[in-house]
Amino acid sequence: MDDIVALCRRRGFIFQSSEIYGGINGFWDYGPLGADLKRNLKNAWWTDIVQEELIGPDGKPIDMVGLDTTIIMHPKVWEASGHLAGFADPMRKCPKCGHFVRADQLWDLLATSSAWFDSLLQAFTPVTGQIDTPHLMAWAKGKGKKLAPNLALVRNPEVTLAWLATRINGQPDAPPDMKELTRYIATEQLHATGLQEPCPRCGGPLTDPAPFKLMFESHAGIEQNEDSKVYLRPETAQGIFVNFWNVVDTSRVKVPFGIAQQGKAFRNEVTPRNFTFRSREFEQMEIEFFIHPSTANEWYTFWRDSRYAWWQSIGLAGANLQLREHEKDELAHYAKTGAGTSDIEYRFPFTAPGFGELEGVAHRADFDLKAHATACGKGDKLKYFDQDLQVRLQNEGKSKDEINERSRYFPHVIEPSAGADRGTLALLCEAYTPDPSRASGVYMKFHPRMAPIKAAVFPLVNKDGMPEVAEKLYRELRKKWNVQFDEKQSIGKRYARMDEAGTPYCFTIDGDTLAGGTVTVRHRDTQQQERIALDSVSQFLRDRVQ
Ligand code: GAP
Repeated sequence: MDDIVALCRRRGFIFQSSEIYGGINGFWDYGPLGADLKRNLKNAWWTDIVQEELIGPDGKPIDMVGLDTTIIMHPKVWEASGHLAGFADPMRKCPKCGHFVRADQLWDLLATSSAWFDSLLQAFTPVTGQIDTPHLMAWAKGKGKKLAPNLALVRNPEVTLAWLATRINGQPDAPPDMKELTRYIATEQLHATGLQEPCPRCGGPLTDPAPFKLMFESHAGIEQNEDSKVYLRPETAQGIFVNFWNVVDTSRVKVPFGIAQQGKAFRNEVTPRNFTFRSREFEQMEIEFFIHPSTANEWYTFWRDSRYAWWQSIGLAGANLQLREHEKDELAHYAKTGAGTSDIEYRFPFTAPGFGELEGVAHRADFDLKAHATACGKGDKLKYFDQDLQVRLQNEGKSKDEINERSRYFPHVIEPSAGADRGTLALLCEAYTPDPSRASGVYMKFHPRMAPIKAAVFPLVNKDGMPEVAEKLYRELRKKWNVQFDEKQSIGKRYARMDEAGTPYCFTIDGDTLAGGTVTVRHRDTQQQERIALDSVSQFLRDRVQ
């Protein structure tokens, strides 16, 4: 991962935000190559979802429209959606060093990034049913003093180890596991405090979890008080839900149909980490697909599978991509019942051998539309009227009451929600291909549709009319694609630059171009070269990069 981050910085894919001031945690900027890469991803999503004809599970073309809503919305939106009350992480604080830890990440953090815990494990291998008192004591009086000054074992080893001995001797048939052992060495006054859990940084006892709100707050207007408080949206989805009725009233859409939106979202993540994977400002690409409740299973399966196939189609095909159905206890509050929730996951270098979420596909039922209808006071008046269903029920001879009852409902929602930054990061990780045989030592094997630069044009030498022909070709190609012209340094160095940028094709103008009207094409992945007619270069690119 360090190599990928270094390449991103060196070649201008991704920079730390406000780098000249030392950066700001959780915020990232896209450089020239990164901006094009991310835009290609977002454009492909928009083209394939909103503009191209997608065929649904019923064999009919899917109705999908786009939307672009504001980042700051009426605060009641967040009350109704449940974000104000529930969008928070359980946090624990170390009163000794001031460090905050997300409660659900404590054991993971201890195991993966706590210097004292790592050192303790190296000094002491627990043997079931025994405590290695001399080693623990030696560690507490040596390395422990420096690494974990606030750990009970370090501050008062005699008392701490006495509690532990009492526990082991008291229940010889049920020896403590690693977690319980760790709690014992974090506890000094067992009767007063109960078993404690240690700070991964200094070993001090952590407070009980308390909710930490993830929404960024601001104020709209001159006065800054409770009444003017607003929030930066933590998801783009709510902008779609509150506009559902506007879209139905103004477009010719009928259930089933979808609304798609791309845009920024903000979450004051407690521990932004893993490069852009968990950022505080990021972009989402969300679809809310509105359906009749009885069709939830077929539409859920359709979206889950077609979104998975889409990520494969842009270059994430292979063992690094997986589809994972959620277990029941993982489901969000709005998805507890229903067709299901699944994640499309990528094996990032920092999650390997595990996977990290790229996109979630969830059956949100009618939770959001109902919540907004209730919160704004209109309630059932905002039920969707399904004219097609009404006609069908009339033809089936149903009673008037039944027809009225059944043809008005709150549609259910299938939501495929993807991250544009996580998607871009996955494309970067997948493309990164070390190759010691190349001058660059590495090349970026982007799918041609995603590659930020589609082609480069080089004059072999800067004389004999080659630069002029090369520039003419470059100008022609530039009208349609992001193409670069490079005449500096040796041809090998120019290839190396393009390999690192992930440019799939390089066209070189040489003596034979002038004599015979052909150019050399060099293919990035194989480094093979072939000659094609100068006047067929445009067509060659069109066939490969769109
Ligand atoms: N509307 C549903 C929703 O927002 P989510 O799983 O919280 O669901 C959807 O977010 C996607 O947004 C994730 O799959 C991920 O790609 C992206 N995402 C969420 N939090 C992120 C963060 N802190 N940094 C970067 N991307 C994030």
